[in-house]
Amino acid sequence: MTKIYDLTERDFISTISNSSQLSSGEFTWKTPSNIALVKYWGKKESQIPENTSISFTLDACFTMTTLKFVKKKNEKGDFEIYFEGKKKEDFKPKIATFFQRIEKYCPFLSEYDFVINSRNSFPHSSGIASSASGMSALALCVMSLEKALLIDQRSLSGAEVTRSKMTDDYFYKKASFLARLGSGSACRSIKGSIVVWGNHKEINDSSDLYGVEFSDEVHSNFKNFHDTILLVDEGEKQVSSTVGHQLMYNHPYAQERFNQAEENIVAVKEILKSGDLKAFTNLVESEALTLHAMMMTSNPYFILMKPNTLKIINKIWEFRKETNLNLCFTLDAGANVHLLYPENEKDQVNDFVVSELIQYCQNNHYICDRVGKGAKLIN
Ligand code: DP6
Repeated sequence: MTKIYDLTERDFISTISNSSQLSSGEFTWKTPSNIALVKYWGKKESQIPENTSISFTLDACFTMTTLKFVKKKNEKGDFEIYFEGKKKEDFKPKIATFFQRIEKYCPFLSEYDFVINSRNSFPHSSGIASSASGMSALALCVMSLEKALLIDQRSLSGAEVTRSKMTDDYFYKKASFLARLGSGSACRSIKGSIVVWGNHKEINDSSDLYGVEFSDEVHSNFKNFHDTILLVDEGEKQVSSTVGHQLMYNHPYAQERFNQAEENIVAVKEILKSGDLKAFTNLVESEALTLHAMMMTSNPYFILMKPNTLKIINKIWEFRKETNLNLCFTLDAGANVHLLYPENEKDQVNDFVVSELIQYCQNNHYICDRVGKGAKLIN
């Protein structure tokens, strides 16, 4: 694959001066969660992935975030965070780290005080990682502010307002770049419906710095693909993803795993083109189990699957044998099971979920989702 141009880290440093007249305002973005087919597990300094990953952008699982900004009155800028209407002091450290990490790229942030209001479409305690949708929503709000400041500054300086337009391509790439600094997988939650993160010679325009929309051919079998999320364990995870990534340093199988993921990107590209659902099942399930095998073989080792996770996996394998349908599973860094299947098999799969699988979900909870189109500006 040839590259048209590469954006480097320096291209993301905003040059907006400190003279903005924009005193207050707000932006709201709705951004989806995503589910990786080839997993990101292991990273270098500055949130650079050890291997390329690819994901389906979801639709029903999303975060809605409003960022209110007011020009700072005194030196000490601050922010408050509300989640589902309640002030959340315990969310502050993660957001503070995010603001610190992106300060270099968005120096204008230090001129404002912020109030962040956020809510998820899925229960916070569902065990679904909200960092991907949450961090991407916040990153997009910051980018809307950057864009507004740019327009404000150019119009003040007398330049044509039309010339002050930031290209959409830059806007979304920088949003993804910023989201990555909050949480790696968040950089895949900006665009739809399939996103790649990580520089890979076989993927057009790909970068370690941000996620890009998968632009190769995709067979109709993968259009409208479903993801039903079985909530096996709604509690807090015992080991965070961030700790899990760190355990890939000095992991005995790390390099083999990173090589395998790079090869799987090539394989999945072919599968998405050919529509080969059997090969898709094989690759996606192998990726999920490899991710958990990495956890079990790190030191210290840990297991995030629960007995019901394995019961569900075995039921899926039986179901596939009996029906020859294309229902497969994948796992995140947790016990919940994502059921992936094509649109034309949804009725049989739904019957199966209700009659055979719900019994293994905590409080019978599950979420019906599907592949979505990416983030949306609400105001
Ligand atoms: C298993 O993006 O949550 O979901 O970068 O430390 O925030 P941080 O990690 P995170 O890791 C997600 C890992 C995964 C696989 C994936 O989504 O690719």
